[in-house]
Amino acid sequence: MTGLLGVPRVRLGTFPTPLVAAPRLSAAAGVEIWFKRDDLTGLGLGGNKVRGLEYLLADARGRGCDVLVTGGAPQSNWAMLAALAGRTRGMDTVLVHFGHPVEPVGNLALAVSAGAQVRFTGDDDRGSVDRGVAAVAAELAAAGRTPYAMGRGGATGVGALGYVAAGLELAGQLQDTGLAPAQLWLATGSCGTHAGLRAAQAWLRPGYDVVGVTVSRPAAEAAQRVDRIAAEASDLIGTPRASAPPVVVDGFLGPAKGARSPEGEAAAALVARTEGVFLDPVFAAKAMAGLLAAARDGTAVGPVVFLVSGGAPTLFL
Ligand SMILES: Cc1ncc(COP(=O)(O)O)c(C=O)c1O
Repeated sequence: MTGLLGVPRVRLGTFPTPLVAAPRLSAAAGVEIWFKRDDLTGLGLGGNKVRGLEYLLADARGRGCDVLVTGGAPQSNWAMLAALAGRTRGMDTVLVHFGHPVEPVGNLALAVSAGAQVRFTGDDDRGSVDRGVAAVAAELAAAGRTPYAMGRGGATGVGALGYVAAGLELAGQLQDTGLAPAQLWLATGSCGTHAGLRAAQAWLRPGYDVVGVTVSRPAAEAAQRVDRIAAEASDLIGTPRASAPPVVVDGFLGPAKGARSPEGEAAAALVARTEGVFLDPVFAAKAMAGLLAAARDGTAVGPVVFLVSGGAPTLFL
């Protein structure tokens, strides 16, 4: 099937995801908040990465590939969902994680149960994943396979198309509900999600600002990545590139990427108590901490749509 402007897409998720009001959270925060429930995208336990994988998998199939190679942290939501996505089309997946073998819990356990082959780089540097993915792809090619290598997070122009499509989906829902948000808040990690929403914004001019809370790198670096990947996505579909600088909020990373933070824990607990929605501890919880702080200091302008981006497998760790 084709997706955005004729670009090949496979169907992995169930869309549209709900856009719902969060009235009790809004009352507690002092700003009107709505949730875009991308924890309910429908593959595995859901999450934002399903959207990009629809375009990446179509690209892989179009190139005749028969095995996916990607990786990240052992608890990468991306890596687990990539393995599941491959399974739905009969493709094997090899995952490369940095560091040394760890207990298979959370996402790692789910990826293994879905049949992913897992390798560890033996090096705690995250960059070792990129080298490992390239090495595994070369090894598979030498063995006669046709690998499709994907970088961490699927953060490329093709991967970002999933969130350009999400921007289009949201535009329809805003029209149906009459909601006119001033801001769309999300967690910005590898930057593909933010980039797709930015490219959608440049194309559709929906009237809201996209605000990303960086949860894995300094804000200036995240903004640069978002800008570059968004431009790649816009070019792929021939829509206008964004010109204003991306908005990236710093200060909510906590002790480290992938580690819980006290502010994130408090924000997630508030959301669970007021709305019965669970935010994962290392992406959406930290983004919500950023939104709540901005609501307190008056920089969050409502109504706000907040992207609930999934990550359920890490709730129990
Ligand atoms: C649950 C969850 N939310 C948000 C993000 C951030 O998305 P991106 O990496 O596209 O910036 C991720 C990335 O892995 C994620 O797993």
